[in-house]
Formats: sequence, C-alpha cells, structure tokens
Amino acid sequence: MLHLTSSSFSTPLTLLALVAVFFALRVRARKAWNLKSQHNAPCTSLTYPILGTLQYFSGHWDFLRRATAEGTVSFHLASQQCIAVPVDKRHEFFSDSRSSFALAYAVMLGATPSMNKDFLRSMGFDITLGGRAVKFLATLLLNERINSNRFLLYQYAGECISSLDTVTNPFSEIYRVVFRLTVNKIAASSISASPGVCDALVEVFHELDQSGRRAATTKIRCNISSTKDCLHWRLRRAHRESFTLRGIRLVHTRRLILRTANTDVVAAYFLCDLATHPAYLTLIRAELRAFVSQFNPDETLPLSTRLQSITMEDWLRHDALPLTNRCLKETLRLRIATPFHRLNDSGKDVEIAGTVVPHGTILTFHSSFMHHSEDFYVEPLVWDPERFSAERAEDKGRPMAFAGWGLGKHQCLGQRLGKFEIFLITALMVSSYDMQTVHEDGMPMIEIPPVQLNDEVVSPPKQPVHLELSVRC
Ligand code: HEM
Repeated sequence: MLHLTSSSFSTPLTLLALVAVFFALRVRARKAWNLKSQHNAPCTSLTYPILGTLQYFSGHWDFLRRATAEGTVSFHLASQQCIAVPVDKRHEFFSDSRSSFALAYAVMLGATPSMNKDFLRSMGFDITLGGRAVKFLATLLLNERINSNRFLLYQYAGECISSLDTVTNPFSEIYRVVFRLTVNKIAASSISASPGVCDALVEVFHELDQSGRRAATTKIRCNISSTKDCLHWRLRRAHRESFTLRGIRLVHTRRLILRTANTDVVAAYFLCDLATHPAYLTLIRAELRAFVSQFNPDETLPLSTRLQSITMEDWLRHDALPLTNRCLKETLRLRIATPFHRLNDSGKDVEIAGTVVPHGTILTFHSSFMHHSEDFYVEPLVWDPERFSAERAEDKGRPMAFAGWGLGKHQCLGQRLGKFEIFLITALMVSSYDMQTVHEDGMPMIEIPPVQLNDEVVSPPKQPVHLELSVRC
C-alpha cells in the first residue's frame, strides 16, 4: 500500500507521479465529456468532477431513483458513459435488440474496462456468454438433456439435503446443492459426480465473485484491475491445488452462466420465506406431497425414489403447483433487487426511448422501479403471495410489472432449469424437515432482514440467517 506523508511530496519522483495521475484522469474525463456531449439526456447533478457518479457504487438504487425522478439522465463512471433509464421507458429498455446484454454485465459487474472483441479473443474463450455461447447454452438446457439423467439430479439433491446440519446456513449450503446440479447440466458430469471437487470449486468461484465485486467498486479509483490477470492467477492457483486446468476452464467458460444463475440465492430466500410463514409452509408441503403422489403414491419409499418418474415438464406444467409458483414469484419480486444493464456496442449511435445513445454507452435500469413501488404493488415490502392470485393479479395491473425472469429481448434462458432445481430442493427440504429461521446464536428469527435495495447483485442478507432443521418422522 502507498503511504503519503508530507515528506513524500517533497521527492521529485512522487510529484511527477502525482502530475501524471492527474493528467491521466483528465484525459479520461475529457473522453467521457466528449461522449456526453453526443447524447441528448441531461446530466445528473449527483456527480464528482473527473471521477463521476461514485454514488452509483455506494447506493445504486438510491442514486437511480433520485436521478431518474425527472426522466432519462446521463452520468459517467470515470471514462465510462452511462444513461439511467426511468420506469416509464422500461418497454424501450427491455425490448431493444440492438444493445448487448453480456458485454454490459461484463463491464458493470466484472470490472473489465477494456472488454471488447479483441479482449475476448485474447482470452481464448468467450467469458461473456455472447453470440454462440447463448446458442450453446440453449442446447445444454434442452428438456431431453435434463430429463435423460434426472435420476442423477434427484440422487445428488437427495444426498446433499439429507446431510445438512441441524442449524444450517441456506445461503451457503443450498449454493452447494444448486452448484452440483447446475454443473451436471451445463459443465461436466464428471465434476458433479465428485462432491469434494464440487465443494472445492465452489470456494474458487466464491473467491472469483468476491474479487469481481471488489474490482468493480474500486475500478473508478484505480482502474488497474484486469479480469484477465485476476482470473488467470486464480485459475493457476486452483490448478496448483490439484484440479486439471482443463477441468477448471471447462467449468470456467460457463462461469458467467453460473453467476447469472441466481438459483442458489433465490432457493435459499424461498426456504426462509416459507419458514417465516408456517401456514404457507404447511400448504406447500401438502401441495408437493399431492403432486408427487400422482406419480408414485407409495409413501413408504424415500422421496428421491418416488420422484424418479417425474420429468422436468411435469414439475413445470402451468397447473402443476399453483401455490408453490405463486410463493416463488413473490420471493423473486420481494427479495431480488438488482440493476439491469445494456451496452450499445453497435459501433454507432442509436436512439433508445427518445435518447441518443452513443456507441460504448451503458444503459442502466432497476428492478425495484417496479417490484418495490407502490404504483405497482400494494404494500410492496410485505411477502404476500396472494397478490398474484387470479382475483388480485397485481402484476397484471400495468404492463411489464414483473421482471423476475427478465422481460423483452433478454428473458432468462435458464428459467426452466432454475425453477426445476428450486422446486426439487424445496420438495426435498419440506418433506424431510420442519424448519424455522434462527440467528447465528440459535435464537429464533421471526422475520428475515428486509431486502437491501442497494446491494450490487442478487445477494444473501447482510445479517446471517440460518435454518434450524428437525427431521420429520
Ligand atoms: C432463480 C434463478 C434465476 C433468476 C431469478 C434469473 C433471472 C434472470 C433475469 C432477471 C434475467 C434478465 C436480466 C436482464 O434483463 O438484464 C436473466 C437472463 C439470463 N439468465 Fe437467468 N435467472 C436465473 C437462473 C438462470 C440459470 C439457471 C441460467 C442458466 C443455466 C440462466 C441464464 C440466463 C441467461 C443466459 C440470461 C441472458 C439471456 C439473454 O442474453 O438473452 N439464468 N436471468
């Protein structure tokens, strides 16, 4: 770390370095300013000279809400030009097919300022999931592929869930279950066959995600973080720690998939929401029990055996699990508060929602514009699945009110797999255990902490939440 004291300033070298840094920042700010002048969105006043809107990092929801109160606004994060899109322009934001989804997230979440096609070529594989990778993923997620070895998924999920501790942190333990199931479907079945390797990879990925997040927030201040170096260094280290580099790469090429896959956090929140609403827990248990009995009524068999004949389509049939679907939708609405991003990488200026968006500009929007707004939902901070009942249908009151799985051009490709995994985990959990939420010290927790609207991505609650599990007879 660099420590500046009054004597440090006196050395000519330090002075020279400071002058160089100042000019470098000015050049970047000029670049941003030049871009700024090419669009017609007013600039926000919530900004610092040269560095730009640091408020975006410390509280993006507070910033986006205030900044867009009057309509579309522009801001910059050092040299990165951004445009914040207000709620009434959501249709244009979600429906525009010219802007890039993957590159936008790579820049905003991964701290990869120089992310472009050359950079990707230099990496040797497409870590952004762009182009062919999306088609590849769609192939991996075909029903037949998932159904053909669903027995293994049932077995793995059953093994993981039956070995949970009495007091368990669902935000780390359910991640392990989801990771193993998802790796089996979109990475390598040989890796998912080994719980030890899966657990070790979970740690590597956790470290990578943390570094991505840290880098994203420090990007403005130092702009020295290179995802490429960071990844290679960590992959090399993981390699030394006994995995084959090929195996790691195989999984790593799909890392973004696993990262966009929020299934683990959603599944954990879902279980916590059920545990804090015992009446719903009982109803969901009954609904899942009746569902499984349609396929195999023999209750003397272990559940993972009774599940064998149930295909993914069965779980996802629109009328199969109405209450479970409603409750999951409510958990998604309430618990997931996340900014959405798009990048104009078209090489030219485009007009979106009446605003000229210069090439290289990021568009940003927030799920809470709808999900946590009283204009869309009654008492939006309360977990109330009945808001999605046929009678109330609060999500139908205004168009594009629910973005839990995305809207328009970039709807979630993994929705079916995600829902299938969550339903499977929930069925195993509620049939195996009675559960209640507790604090770290084991004291009962009546309500789970309120959603943090300013959190960077879909993330577990800051205050740890545990589940106390008692095996059901
Ligand atoms: C509960 C779990 C999940 C949730 C809540 C979720 C949510 C979302 C949302 C909201 C979007 C749209 C983001 C935007 O418009 O900027 C999205 C897109 C996407 N999701 Fe998911 N997702 C989940 C699971 C998964 C899984 C399991 C996969 C893959 C295995 C996946 C792959 C993708 C991909 C590839 C896209 C981008 C699609 C495109 O570029 O058109 N997601 N997801």
